Amino acid sequence: MSGYDEAYRRSTRHPEEFWAEAARGIDWDVAPATVLGQDGRWFPDGRLNTCHNALDRHVAAGRGGQLALIHDSPVTGGGRVLSYAELLDEVARTAGMLRDLGVGAGDTVVIYMPMVPEAVIAMLACARLGAVHSVVFGGFAARELAVRVDHARPKVVLSASCGIEPSRVVAYKPLLDAALEQAAHRPERCVILRRPQCPAELTEGRDLDWAATVRDAAPAPCVSVAATDPLYVLYTSGTTGSPKGVLRDNGGHAVALHWSMAHVYGAAPGEVFWAASDVGWVVGHSYIVYAPLLAGCTTVLYEGKPVGTPDPGAYWRVVATYGVRTLFTAPTAIRAIKKEDPSGEFAKKWDLSGLRHLFLAGERLDPDTYHWAADLLGVPVVDHWWQTETGWPIAANCVGIETLPARPGSPTKPVPGWDVHVLDAAGNDCPPGVEGSVTVKLPLPPGALPTLYRDEARFRASYLERHPGHYLTGDGGHFDADGYLYVMGRIDDVINVAGHRLSTGSMEEVLAGHPDVAECAVIGVADEVKGQVPVGFAVLKSGCDRDPEELERELVALVRERIGPVAAFRRAVVVARLPKTRSGKILRGTMRDIADDRPYATPSTIEDPTTLPEIAEAMKRA
Ligand code: COA
Ligand code: AMP
Repeated sequence: MSGYDEAYRRSTRHPEEFWAEAARGIDWDVAPATVLGQDGRWFPDGRLNTCHNALDRHVAAGRGGQLALIHDSPVTGGGRVLSYAELLDEVARTAGMLRDLGVGAGDTVVIYMPMVPEAVIAMLACARLGAVHSVVFGGFAARELAVRVDHARPKVVLSASCGIEPSRVVAYKPLLDAALEQAAHRPERCVILRRPQCPAELTEGRDLDWAATVRDAAPAPCVSVAATDPLYVLYTSGTTGSPKGVLRDNGGHAVALHWSMAHVYGAAPGEVFWAASDVGWVVGHSYIVYAPLLAGCTTVLYEGKPVGTPDPGAYWRVVATYGVRTLFTAPTAIRAIKKEDPSGEFAKKWDLSGLRHLFLAGERLDPDTYHWAADLLGVPVVDHWWQTETGWPIAANCVGIETLPARPGSPTKPVPGWDVHVLDAAGNDCPPGVEGSVTVKLPLPPGALPTLYRDEARFRASYLERHPGHYLTGDGGHFDADGYLYVMGRIDDVINVAGHRLSTGSMEEVLAGHPDVAECAVIGVADEVKGQVPVGFAVLKSGCDRDPEELERELVALVRERIGPVAAFRRAVVVARLPKTRSGKILRGTMRDIADDRPYATPSTIEDPTTLPEIAEAMKRA
């Protein structure tokens, strides 16, 4: 039996033995006597500190001089590097600052920051105190930040004066002020990192200057927490306008992420590991911050884009300059590079001989992009599939165990720990080649979400009730006859825009709030670079006579203002009617098929079949 098959079998047949062994990769204050609790939670009687495992233990083991963090920032023309000892010092003092502000174990801290080292430092400082961080992505609008502040109820907010996009400086402070005006919850303090690119007026009595406050703080030691205590909450899009607060615990997370570095990514301590994502997304949490540091690697924090900062060779420059061994990004980034540099001229300018693997995730990897990247780089390109909820890959080619032959279009096979099934509507396993709902048989492995923050009922309703005994991923797909998994796309109203997960439901809520809109639908349509982009269809209130282009501009501006630029909402079409079932449900699935030029059958439940050609016509206009 091969390495992969053996590891997979062991992980599903004897999960406790498997994960007890993996848990030895972590330093425990109290080693867990129980591996899997009755309630499905891992290491329930273990105690540890995640920050200790990410920093202190490496310094104690003599790795203090090794680089821990490389900040590369083409948008500012700057950046800096921090060794493990330097990062530990900054994290301990930032934790001291938070402690002085009254933050203790179990308190929440919202982090709304660009891609600067202080964002990573802030996360680790919270972990050091046993406080729960909630990072909000910078591309969201004030209202989205307000919703998260109200749900997380932070004692302190950590933010910066600005983020820097290639085309503009994004002043964060006015966004933060607007969010806190809209939010019902009042944090006691906001600590603002003032960047030279943009000043920020501090609000008297509420705001503190980051540099000055940290400078005056004494370092704080690690606080021992239960393995099941929360490490962070990360909000992600569900099918409604209210985001889901995915909760991550300390023990299972540390064990799983540490294990994944060696076994999924094949990365060893001392190597340079680069996840080109943002700390506001789960990829950033897991593979910019926690996993590389838990494993003793050097992580790269890149403040730039794959193209335009300044050219499509930006990624290759970073790989060559720092000796990146493992690069992890989203297919959309590769498509953006390919579009600007189809023959890979920019890659040829750099010595990429140190690169060993390119890992891609965040959306389906189309075979064209797979082949282009594999031919260009001459290293294995590994598609792997996961979600905010799971925290680490569910399916991948586990190159640290055994590299299986790749099949373009498939993220290979389930990773050890994930008992993946493809189920039909009745809950039976689909035969190979037949598409169904992709689920994971319980228990989920360590590192996966134990619940939704302050919403156990929504957790059960969203993930556990559809197929009892299984976790519903929300993705559709199939296995082939050899056990390779194919993940084809969401079966709900979540879309994936440039690797960013967004809810069409939340955009519909915004459009429906416009005074002239009677009803609306937002669907994701295929896009050459971003994978999908949202397009809105609006029916006007009766008697309302509006110039469609003017209304489109208003709706686009409204989504940008309420959700943020990251939604990339640029098209809204006025239509006379929407296709609906006789019970009044909008046929979004059929609309998606029409938009993507897929063959579709007219549903038997449709109220009026003539609405379909009408909507097809409107889509051509969009
Ligand atoms: N703060 C403020 N604004 C932000 C932002 C941030 N952190 N991130 C993105 N935005 C804004 C952008 O400026 C842009 O605004 P615009 O409408 O004024 O141009 C908008 O949000 C959309 O941004 P983006 O999704 O980055 O699209 P783009 O067209 O600027 O670039 C790509 C396209 C493909 C190059 C880019 O999406 C990309 O690098 N994707 C990789 C995605 C990724 O790493 N995903 C993580 C999962 S692994
Ligand atoms: P997020 O929670 O933002 O990481 O988004 C998770 C969703 O992205 C998944 O549910 C999938 O729909 C999609 N996704 C991520 N990686 C892949 C992949 N390798 N193949 C197909 N879909 C993917």
